[in-house]
Amino acid sequence: MMHKLLTSLTIIALLATCTTKEEKTQVPDVEPGDYRPAYHYAPPQNWTNDPNGLVYLDGEYHLFYQYNPEADTWGHMSWAHAVSEDLKTWEELPLALAEYQNADSTETMIFSGSVVVDSLNTSGFFEPGFKKGMVAIYTSHVHQEIDGKDQGVAQHQSLAYSADKGRSWKYFDKNPVLDIGMKDFRDPSVFWYEGMWKMVVAKPKEYAVQIYESSDLKKWTRLSEFGRMGDMAKIWECPSLFKVPVEGNEEEKWVMLISSAAEDTEFTGMQYFVGSFDGKRFQADRQKGVRRVDYGKDFYAAIPFNNLPANQPKPIILGWASNWVYAGKTPTTGYRGMFSLPRQLSLRPDSSGVYHLIQQPVFKDKISTKTLTMKAPDLKAGVVLKMDAGNSYRLNLTIELDEAENFSVKLLNNEMEESVLAYDVVTNKLTLDRTKSGKVDFHEKFPSVESMIVPPRNGELKLDIFVDNSIVEIFANDGAAVLTDLVYPTKKKGEVAIGTNL
Ligand code: FRU
Repeated sequence: MMHKLLTSLTIIALLATCTTKEEKTQVPDVEPGDYRPAYHYAPPQNWTNDPNGLVYLDGEYHLFYQYNPEADTWGHMSWAHAVSEDLKTWEELPLALAEYQNADSTETMIFSGSVVVDSLNTSGFFEPGFKKGMVAIYTSHVHQEIDGKDQGVAQHQSLAYSADKGRSWKYFDKNPVLDIGMKDFRDPSVFWYEGMWKMVVAKPKEYAVQIYESSDLKKWTRLSEFGRMGDMAKIWECPSLFKVPVEGNEEEKWVMLISSAAEDTEFTGMQYFVGSFDGKRFQADRQKGVRRVDYGKDFYAAIPFNNLPANQPKPIILGWASNWVYAGKTPTTGYRGMFSLPRQLSLRPDSSGVYHLIQQPVFKDKISTKTLTMKAPDLKAGVVLKMDAGNSYRLNLTIELDEAENFSVKLLNNEMEESVLAYDVVTNKLTLDRTKSGKVDFHEKFPSVESMIVPPRNGELKLDIFVDNSIVEIFANDGAAVLTDLVYPTKKKGEVAIGTNL
């Protein structure tokens, strides 16, 4: 009873701060710089794609990432570097690994990879006893101009190392350390397991991941190959393999993440497999269909942080929030590309024993947040919220479904534009429609409608919605299903309309 009274009071209080459509307020236009997110990380300038070498050391989370130091389009791929103490505020550091010229007429770009802390100095790169050496294992992408066209000639895995927590690096003088003579062989993800280094690395065009091991990061022995299952509509990239705790008991399972999966073959995305790993071979549990990490169009190349402290058993991943289909055309100025919120992972078994990935944002608590519970009559009456922080906010919504009919949440709402989240109570389908979200015509594939099935839990639908100037990230039912999409509204109205008859 008390709970119900409080709910109604919350709504009345919120209504008091609401504006109506009739009110003629001066709505500021979105200026070129306004797409920059306030609580997601985007580089100060230039192009960025995949996160690389996510690693924790001595109180710092390191984010290395694919970066073009010269332009806001893809090219000259190098690793940029930012650090954070709280996964919320990031400090940009100097470029970590730059592309280099080779002795012949080729050049090497630094493609995606990982960083480990070599605390036992297995590599011998550091002074005896030094415990804080970082080793980067990256794909050396060799390319050359052939008949006037820039072409890749080889991809292999190489090393660089740093004795000052990633501030300066040396390339290993005997690179590459793993070369199988393939043009497409990339994105090594390395982790320490039972006294050995393990690497998962993609053979993109074969929809396969190879697993290797090494005692010193320099000599690698092939253990097994996994793949040719799940989604094979697009090449496989950026694999990772790690343990994830199961909610409610002491169990842990292994999860393999792969970037590329998509029901619609036009689009990139990510899929996951749950299974077991015996140190040599990853065996996926039986699964029905493709399992998607995120149902939006803009979550890719996510990998986990290495070396998290022992009191942090849940892995944390971070993804590139964009899509190769239109990434080079997004209408931002001075920079292009950004990252998702960091997400903590766990697994939840359903009644038939299938494990589902649960993702919870590790969010910035300074985010301006509105928390609201609504029931069927509230939805019928409708509500328009005014967000104080304009187009950057968190909206934590609980819908008590009971007698509720279909309803929608119009985010980034103004007279001409809306990013519409809609729920169908019969099919349990949650849809995000960005076809009228603002600037959509920079690429014909951008205006899109995404959906995911979210069954209610205990009669409720919970929507934790993060809107940050040019991104919408939705965590439904405490992270049971997640959807990430970029959007480019042209007004800073900060209005949200919620209801059945909008
Ligand atoms: C994935 C990817 C990787 C590659 C990198 C190049 O987005 O294509 O496979 O290493 O980007 O920038």
